[in-house]
Amino acid sequence: MHGTIFSLLKRYVQLHYDHAAWVRLVEAAGLPSGDFSHKEVYPDEHLYALVGKAAEVVGITEGELHERFGEYLVPDLMYMYQRFVRPEWRTLDMLEHTEHAMHNQVRREHPENSPPVLNVQRLSENEVLIDYVSPRRMGGLAVGIVRGLATYFDEADRINVLPTTSEGGQRVQIQVRRS
Ligand code: HEM
Repeated sequence: MHGTIFSLLKRYVQLHYDHAAWVRLVEAAGLPSGDFSHKEVYPDEHLYALVGKAAEVVGITEGELHERFGEYLVPDLMYMYQRFVRPEWRTLDMLEHTEHAMHNQVRREHPENSPPVLNVQRLSENEVLIDYVSPRRMGGLAVGIVRGLATYFDEADRINVLPTTSEGGQRVQIQVRRS
């Protein structure tokens, strides 16, 4: 997984808890170091271990932590890849174009990265259906990212995000409607 995701998890823990909590997490997860470079790719298992331990420490499920972390990620991800975003896009347009504009770009920049495949159908002006497929089973993160995008585009009060399958599977469907 992209080093940026690790660095942002580190910042999330430091911000919501403190640096000592991060150091304890890294130790509990059995990782050799708690520092990550955005130019590197790290084993997925390290992220699972960190998220698993973090959820345990905070007392929430891993799925919930994935969602919260997904929401938190959005402003930074958007900042990093803003050159691929059209100024007229809102939440649903961004979702419709994520695969082509964002995840494909990530694959081009770092062939060793493997963002999930998102099949996104624009059902109408106000509805999108996302089909997430990834062996990493991080559907909770996907749900959080969608919520984070709604906040980013200032549409949080109009966007309803509804996973229609379990969030823990390799394939997760997420219905997104704007009222
Ligand atoms: C809009 C801007 C977005 C950017 C710039 C972005 C970028 C990225 C990057 C850099 C990764 C790490 C890939 C890796 O290390 O292999 C990633 C992973 C991921 N992305 Fe996105 N993404 C965006 C939107 C979305 C959206 C809209 C969703 C879901 C609806 C999504 C779902 C995920 C998930 C769940 C992962 C974790 C890896 C996995 O499950 O296989 N992303 N994304």
